[in-house]
Amino acid sequence: MTVGYLNRAIVAAMPLIPKPLVWQFSSRYVAGTTLTEAFSVVRELNAAGCSATVDVLGEDSTGEAEVQAAEALYVEAMKTIEADSLDCGVSVKLSDMGLRYDIDRCHQAMHGLLEEAARRSCFVRIDMEDSSVTDVTLDIYRKLRASFDNLGIVIQSCLRRSQADLAALIKEGIADVRLCKGIYIEPPAIAFTDADEIRDAFNKLLRQIVEADSSRAAIATHDPTLVDYARALVEESGIERGRYQFQMLLGVAEPMRRELVAAGYPVRVYVPFGERWYAYSMRRLRENPNIAGHIVGNLFKRR
Ligand code: FDA
Repeated sequence: MTVGYLNRAIVAAMPLIPKPLVWQFSSRYVAGTTLTEAFSVVRELNAAGCSATVDVLGEDSTGEAEVQAAEALYVEAMKTIEADSLDCGVSVKLSDMGLRYDIDRCHQAMHGLLEEAARRSCFVRIDMEDSSVTDVTLDIYRKLRASFDNLGIVIQSCLRRSQADLAALIKEGIADVRLCKGIYIEPPAIAFTDADEIRDAFNKLLRQIVEADSSRAAIATHDPTLVDYARALVEESGIERGRYQFQMLLGVAEPMRRELVAAGYPVRVYVPFGERWYAYSMRRLRENPNIAGHIVGNLFKRR
């Protein structure tokens, strides 16, 4: 049985697994269901020398009630960040803010969040979703960046268009990017599908960022080859280690994370939380069955 086939079989069997059991392995990657639980993890990360980014789990909102609920949670999160002086920002999916049913409402919700964030000196990152919304996501980012500079975006190295997108953002002076491989399965016409091509594209994009001297860039990967490449590039370019930030997901590659912190690199951990953890975990697994392999693999590793 091939690994891909095995992962798909695991995904197909997931709905049969009792929810509490799914939680047992999802809880490694999800900080909890409440803000209190999420911020308890954030405090631990801050104490261990890492920054954090909280993400209220949710996407593809289909109505006003869902958008308002997400808005309220983000505002609450930003109040806690300010009140407790936490080293923490927030990450938002535009589809959670209504992108797929009302673009204007989504823009308005983000504008409101950014006003709140600016008042509290909080940084907001727009996560990048699948390629059906890349254009509109970049469009909303550009519009919001005209009024707010506490805002960043994500570039996915798997997309063939990313080099051009990044070049345009650099030219406009708004390349506050988190660079990642991209989690969504995309058609070969628009995306690299070979792992080495995606890595190669990642390295080229990183070099593009370094050459443009874009200091707020973040390197989001757990791939040791890419981390080594990034470290070598920083050293070779004579850049201070503090200039670029590594970013990792909660519960993933913790030994490498600790090693980067010890070596003096800024590291930020992405902390997802919320009531919708189950739907989120299932959707991620359906979209990219290879994650199932990571999850099941982690079941058998010691924490
Ligand atoms: P790769 O997938 O090769 O993983 C390297 C190793 O890390 C694996 O061998 C495994 O051990 C471990 N690993 C990776 N992912 C794991 C997981 N989920 N569970 C357990 N182990 C895992 N994508 C996107 O499309 N839009 C976005 O906005 C973001 N945002 C984002 C923020 C941050 C902080 C990170 C770290 C990642 C994202 N991503 C994302 C996801 C990203 O695109 C990518 O899918 C994952 O980071 C996995 O790719 P790696 O570069 O880690 O390599």
